[in-house]
Amino acid sequence: MAKKTYSVSSKLWIKEHFDDLSVQKQQNQGDCFEDVFKLEQIQQKFNFIKLGMRVVDLGAAPGGWSQYVASLVGDSGKVFSCDILDMKPIEKVDFIQGDFRDEAVLNTLLNKIGGKPVDIVLSDLTTNGNGSATAVQASNTYLSELAFDLCRQILKPNGVFIVKAYKGEGFDEFYSELKDAFSVVNTSELIYALAKSNEVYLVAAGYKL
Ligand SMILES: C[S@@+](CC[C@H](N)C(=O)[O-])C[C@H]1O[C@@H](n2cnc3c(N)ncnc32)[C@H](O)[C@@H]1O
Repeated sequence: MAKKTYSVSSKLWIKEHFDDLSVQKQQNQGDCFEDVFKLEQIQQKFNFIKLGMRVVDLGAAPGGWSQYVASLVGDSGKVFSCDILDMKPIEKVDFIQGDFRDEAVLNTLLNKIGGKPVDIVLSDLTTNGNGSATAVQASNTYLSELAFDLCRQILKPNGVFIVKAYKGEGFDEFYSELKDAFSVVNTSELIYALAKSNEVYLVAAGYKL
């Protein structure tokens, strides 16, 4: 397996958080660093997340992406995060624990967002259930689709959607739906190489209402 290299900024960010016991605990629980590293690569390449932005993070636990995004949007920005699983409170992150497919959870999220469209929707959703590869693929693709449905409600014109998608049944349809709805849909070889074999991060920009 090829040795992974970290950028200087990535190393600094990791070093800064290595002393944080909570992050060490999260690392044991869910390989938080791997997840952050993927988003950091996307950010380095596309630089979409900026100071003052309002960002929604779906499938946020144990919190790596939310913590990283909160550091990028700063005090003037806002991060709304949601996960079925609980996660440790993170400064400047408004976390809702629950299944975003549940109406009550979704409404809580929408209320917090408060009718003002957001700049970016992130989805790192992965189904928590087990089952056959086909069932897991279907469930994961469904989650990506639902995250896109949420974009239709909360994403502002020209907004960005960064979503973990799953190659296999349903992928081509999902990809072409995004291509219709956004000006540009990117994937990255680098990002893809790091991700698990059938995962691919789609970076869709220029949301067309
Ligand atoms: C790969 S993890 C996310 C890691 C996260 N990006 C980070 O940096 O720490 C995927 C998450 O999706 C969550 N998830 C799956 N289905 C969900 C749903 N219907 N509603 C909310 N969260 C969900 C899981 O609980 C899991 O924590």
